[in-house]
Amino acid sequence: MILLAIETSCDETAVSIVKRVRGNRVRFEVLSHKVLSQIDLHKQYGGVFPALAKREHAKALTQLIAECLEEADLLVERTNTYHLPSAERKKLEVLLEREPEMLSAMKVLFEGVQKPNIDAIAVTEGPGLEPALWVGINGALALNTVWDIPIYPINHMEGHIIASTLFHNEGVYEIPDISFPACALLISGGHTEIVRIPKLRSYKIIGKTKDDAVGEAFDKSARMLGIPYPGGPEISRLAELARKENLIVDDDLRLPRPMLHSGDLNFSCSGLKTAVLTRVNKKSPLNDITKKMLALEFENSITDVLVAKVKQAVYETRAETVIVGGGVSANTHIRSAMKELSETEGFALLLPAKNLSADNGLMIAAAGLLHIAFDVKPRTKLKANGSWSIENS
Ligand code: KG4
Ligand code: ZN
Repeated sequence: MILLAIETSCDETAVSIVKRVRGNRVRFEVLSHKVLSQIDLHKQYGGVFPALAKREHAKALTQLIAECLEEADLLVERTNTYHLPSAERKKLEVLLEREPEMLSAMKVLFEGVQKPNIDAIAVTEGPGLEPALWVGINGALALNTVWDIPIYPINHMEGHIIASTLFHNEGVYEIPDISFPACALLISGGHTEIVRIPKLRSYKIIGKTKDDAVGEAFDKSARMLGIPYPGGPEISRLAELARKENLIVDDDLRLPRPMLHSGDLNFSCSGLKTAVLTRVNKKSPLNDITKKMLALEFENSITDVLVAKVKQAVYETRAETVIVGGGVSANTHIRSAMKELSETEGFALLLPAKNLSADNGLMIAAAGLLHIAFDVKPRTKLKANGSWSIENS
């Protein structure tokens, strides 16, 4: 069983091809794995600009699929001239009406290569930016139209959860035995959620942000400190420097810990962002030490709240395992705080490998294989769903 996965929910165009290894577990080898980031283009807008993201995905996707097929040794070029039958050509033209560049590239692909040995496609159907999601979905539908390969639509947040569980050994990835019940802390640019997971593929949201997501708060606060999008990693770097230098944060730079004592599992990050702005306005122009102090205080504030909420969620759900996923789970300080909590509270902790914390195709591939193992039916009626809840995935 060979599966090709497509992810285009935000600002990364990603394709992976994996080969399932026989056995009861979901185990697979990676035949190819490519991520094309648009970050440099979005920097000038201070965030991801959906129309631009869509255009860039449409420009890149077909070529990326071809490169992955080649890397996976699945690309066989035709030796004779071949023209798509007119019925298929018409279907493609309707399907890719809004992506003319992708239409021409797809025609070239279909006429230039033979149907590859791919058994299934997994594609992100939501949540994310709808114009961007549509590109991946239409790409998958085009492959389905011409090559007749079934499509498994995947929820991006489920992809993050599954990516964090993956165990990697000698080129083989697998979803290991997980002690249930589990809880997932999902922290990304668009989401901040705590999810109760009584068993594989069963998800209940028990806490979430009332306003900004954690990644969004990192990025917006970074911007106030003069750091370009996406500022999360740079805030983290400045905070690490501050720790190394043993900087003590000035009293007037202290920040609140929003919702720390709210008694529930919800979050609010927009007040924290405003608090950063107030401090920045008072101190501007900012010197390097003030920047480092603010980065440190911001990261500590977010971490304190995340740790407290995860601790509470573990108590409430009697979770034996905590899974942390989403782009912000690359954060070194949050990772070590979660490790410490897992040691004191005695739960198993699953963190994503650093190369799988940000958006990628492998997370969608792994979730796709899980769907197949669970006998989820493939679909060809697909619709980008920007706010698709993991509960209905
Ligand atoms: O999951 P992801 O790649 O995309 C979405 O699905 O949103 O998450 C991206 C987010 C961005 O807000 C980025 O600043 C943040 O993850 N991020 C970090 C770090 N690395 C990425 N935030 C804090 N510390 C990091 N090291
Ligand atoms: Zn993501």
